[in-house]
Amino acid sequence: MARILVAYASKKGSTTEIAQAIGKELGASGHVVDVAEMGTVTSLNGYNAIVIGGPMYVGKIDGMGKFAKRHSTELARVPVAGFVVCLAAASKDPEGMAWAKKALHAALDPLRPVAEMVFAGRLDPAKLSWFQNWMIKKVNSPVGDFRDWAAIAAWARELPGKMGV
Ligand SMILES: Cc1cc2nc3c(=O)[nH]c(=O)nc-3n(C[C@H](O)[C@H](O)[C@H](O)COP(=O)(O)O)c2cc1C
Repeated sequence: MARILVAYASKKGSTTEIAQAIGKELGASGHVVDVAEMGTVTSLNGYNAIVIGGPMYVGKIDGMGKFAKRHSTELARVPVAGFVVCLAAASKDPEGMAWAKKALHAALDPLRPVAEMVFAGRLDPAKLSWFQNWMIKKVNSPVGDFRDWAAIAAWARELPGKMGV
């Protein structure tokens, strides 16, 4: 039994719910799991593995690079898995998905995650500012909830094996 932290960033809540779903799955496999917003995490002491996830906003993953730098020494000692939530995965846009992976590597560098994933997220125009709605219209972004809960759970179930915990 390992202690695992799922640390996430989220502006509109869709990544929060994905992090919680991952945490639930890890807990069901017998591990002790904390799911926490990155900004509230002060120490990684006592964790045997860390899952880090964040949403893509204008080509950058919210919060992840900052978190990885702040905890670089502790993160280098444990297996790390990373995930990105974005809309490029909803439209299966290969360029956008390649960009998301590149952004994940950049945010976690020099760490090499033992597992990584790009998940489709949610875009709810009612939750966006006028300017954000203008931006997403301009890039013809798909609108809706594209989260694939079965795929999220399946990825989470594979993590302990990949993390060696
Ligand atoms: C202003 C804005 C910019 C975005 N930029 C991108 C982007 O560059 N690439 C992408 O694939 N998705 C982009 N998205 C979609 C978000 O990544 C998606 O809505 C995600 O689920 C948001 O996560 P959250 O609810 O946890 O904040 C953008 C969404 C908004 C509102």
